[in-house]
Amino acid sequence: MAPPPNDLQALLAGLDIGVMALDEASGLLTPAGPLPQWLDGLELDRPFLALVSSVDQPQVRRALATTGRLTLEHGLWVGSLELHVRTSVASTSTGTRSLALQDVTAARHDARQWRELEAWLVTMAETLPFDFFILDRDGRFLLQNPASVKRFGSAFGRTFFELELPDAMKESFLRAASRALDGEQVREERSWLVGGVERSFSQSMSPVRDGEVVVGVLGIDIDITPLKQSEAALRQSLSELEATQEALVRRKQFAALGEMAAVVAHEVRNPLGSIANAISLMQRGVVSPSEQPQLWKVIADETKRLDLLVADLLDFVRPVTLTLSPRPLEPLLARALRQTLWTEDAESAVSTRLEGSAPPVPLDDRQLELAFANLFRNAVQAMNGRGALSVDVSTEEGERQRWARVTIRDTGPGMPSEVKERLFEPFVTTRASGHGLGLAIVRKVVEQHHGEVRFESVPGEGTTWVVRLPVGE
Ligand SMILES: Nc1ncnc2c1ncn2[C@@H]1O[C@H](COP(=O)(O)OP(=O)(O)OP(=O)(O)O)[C@@H](O)[C@H]1O
Ligand SMILES: [Mg+2]
Repeated sequence: MAPPPNDLQALLAGLDIGVMALDEASGLLTPAGPLPQWLDGLELDRPFLALVSSVDQPQVRRALATTGRLTLEHGLWVGSLELHVRTSVASTSTGTRSLALQDVTAARHDARQWRELEAWLVTMAETLPFDFFILDRDGRFLLQNPASVKRFGSAFGRTFFELELPDAMKESFLRAASRALDGEQVREERSWLVGGVERSFSQSMSPVRDGEVVVGVLGIDIDITPLKQSEAALRQSLSELEATQEALVRRKQFAALGEMAAVVAHEVRNPLGSIANAISLMQRGVVSPSEQPQLWKVIADETKRLDLLVADLLDFVRPVTLTLSPRPLEPLLARALRQTLWTEDAESAVSTRLEGSAPPVPLDDRQLELAFANLFRNAVQAMNGRGALSVDVSTEEGERQRWARVTIRDTGPGMPSEVKERLFEPFVTTRASGHGLGLAIVRKVVEQHHGEVRFESVPGEGTTWVVRLPVGE
């Protein structure tokens, strides 16, 4: 039995379908009941055909000219919106027509999106420069891109086992595929002989899941041989660079050694010449007995100079292992100061001052005394034996540690900038009798104490040295 009209209306409303009668003479639509919401803006005072999208008007006109039932899809203007509708047309016995309109805009939109996505995927698969394939849940080829076809041949419906491949390759792919089918993400690097040449591949097989279930495998196989080759080339040039650098360092070391040998030879030849001269004069008997003590003094002085050079050189080059134990700095500084004034014969003309104190510093007594004596000696020599030399000891709170700070000031002539730049290099000297080793020794010893040495010098205003040494806990 047919449902009563009211029930039919409710049913149609539930389906979101709009049912209308089309008057053939006027072409106007009359709703057969309440219309669904999506037809709200429909202009019922205009003929139906005028509301149909212009491109679809010919086919709709044709459909309306035939009798019987038919369904067609076309565009429809509802207010300012162009929707896509599926219209079923039925002729009634009274000569009018009933139209049932259903909105299919969203479905059509989805279908178009799917088509676009599919086309995009196919293009991507075809143009990707590496092998790309999909296996079904039995490990059979479902899809291959042209690169994969070129590599494995057309494999649709077959497993790796059935392909014409070397056994080792087959086994490797089968193993990876079965691990991926078990849900594992497989990624590995393999090398194969391709056309007699070894090539490297980065293989990856990933499970394709539908929810929790693995329904297939997505395989990607990239030829990374060029990458590997450039990596090897890079490694090769790096090791070449290292070798060149080593050779350079060695050459520099030899150059430094050569320079040192030349300076030492020069320094030794001068006193040796004076000694040889004095001896020769005495041997030839051309020296009066009263002049002889003078010659003996030359010999003694020059011998002392040679001895000093050898001692300085040894201090500089000999690798010393320091024994550091916490001691106060002040007695050490006092000793070094006294010793310097005495050896430089400057006790009367140079006034000295030693003030302040600092906590004990881990130090090697002999080595650090030698370093400070070098700084004091330089100051006394710079002041030409007369002036003021002050030494201040204090504590400095650094960011990470405490320092004992020794500040040494002289009233000498200061240093020109060309000397300043190379001051710590061995054999840099401006003194006729200097070896240029003093400051090289100072820096070496201070660094062995994990300390720092800095200076400030203004020509005409004297020089200030600051030595910082870490205070022991
Ligand atoms: N307090 C200072 N005032 C001015 N110039 C200085 C001072 N200390 C060092 N110099 C300069 O630095 C140079 C290098 O000093 P360094 O102690 O290394 O060698 P040197 O004193 O010339 O020789 P050596 O110490 O080997 O006998 C000195 O020749 C001098 O020109
Ligand atoms: Mg010196």
